Amino acid sequence: MDKSEERLISPEEKKEEASFDFSLRPKTLAEYVGQEKIKQNLQITISATKKRGETLDHVLLYGAPGLGKTTLAHVIANELGANIKVTSGPAIEKAGDLAAILTNLNEGDILFIDEIHRLNHNIEEILYPAMEDYALDIIMGKGPSARTLRLDLPKFTIIGATTQASTLSAPLRDRFGVTHHLNFYEPEDIQKIVKRSASLLGVAIDEAASQAISQRSRRTPRIANRLLKRVRDYCEVKSNGQISEGSCFDSFLMLEVDELGLDWVDRKILETIIHKFKGGPVGLNTLSAATGEEMDTIENMYEPYLMQLGFLDRTARGRVATDLAYSHLNLRAKPNA
Ligand SMILES: Nc1ncnc2c1ncn2[C@@H]1O[C@H](COP(=O)(O)OP(=O)(O)OP(=O)(O)O)[C@@H](O)[C@H]1O
Ligand SMILES: [Mg+2]
Repeated sequence: MDKSEERLISPEEKKEEASFDFSLRPKTLAEYVGQEKIKQNLQITISATKKRGETLDHVLLYGAPGLGKTTLAHVIANELGANIKVTSGPAIEKAGDLAAILTNLNEGDILFIDEIHRLNHNIEEILYPAMEDYALDIIMGKGPSARTLRLDLPKFTIIGATTQASTLSAPLRDRFGVTHHLNFYEPEDIQKIVKRSASLLGVAIDEAASQAISQRSRRTPRIANRLLKRVRDYCEVKSNGQISEGSCFDSFLMLEVDELGLDWVDRKILETIIHKFKGGPVGLNTLSAATGEEMDTIENMYEPYLMQLGFLDRTARGRVATDLAYSHLNLRAKPNA
């Protein structure tokens, strides 16, 4: 099994989680917690669009996994009263797949393309005229006798989502009229999400417990909901079902998630740098060999949060554990630090 699948605090969606995620998903901008700037902007864009009876500009949403891009796309559709069709970059394999999707759209529909950075280049090129001129160019025949047929499309809106805006080609990026970058949430907002989800799940939770969960959620709603669910299970079995701070602490101890939301893999990475490499610098490939974790996984899944906490530095000579990492692990700082 892929390690990330068994990892409790990974921000990626787990397969069995989809229906749970869905049931907790806010449906309106008012229910959508946090991201105030984005909400204000969207509110204005949506109202103006509705007032003028126009179609919404294409919207690009980018941000780390689990921050609410898919949720927001559905919220936008709901606020506009528009139909939403869902697909993803890797799902559109052939030009014909995209043509079929586009020709089935109605005026004002929203096409949500998840992982849009994974679209094939030749498919992107079909998308350009579709986004700009609402037209589809179909090539008929082959060789010298080939000709292009232009098909008009209804006015529609693409909402693209990506975790990696930097890997999106510039011409594609430029065709979005509206771009929003979702940031990690403020702890208070995560706490609101925990309380909201608890009430939707019909489970009682006190202030201290919701705070304990939010503190360990790596500022990510998906992780907050997942931890809540695990704590709820624990309380159902071990206590009266109500979620208290004490039962949170007990279940986090059992789940090996510490007070900052680090799990054993995060700690293993830091401890390896500290114990085996005297705190670093150590190259990514060496670190990967020493921990048994893939380079790519270390770089994209573990390091961002460790760096955000200020526990790890990426330097030209390799990875370095900071003094903060030493003190978090209750170790004495590097002798010559
Ligand atoms: N602003 C929010 N308020 C309340 N709950 C939220 C919010 N954002 C996300 N959530 C919750 O977190 C879950 C994960 O969000 P979502 O699936 O939209 O993330 P995503 O950015 O699309 O992630 P991925 O990159 O993995 O596709 C949702 O099911 C929802 O319950
Ligand atoms: Mg998503």
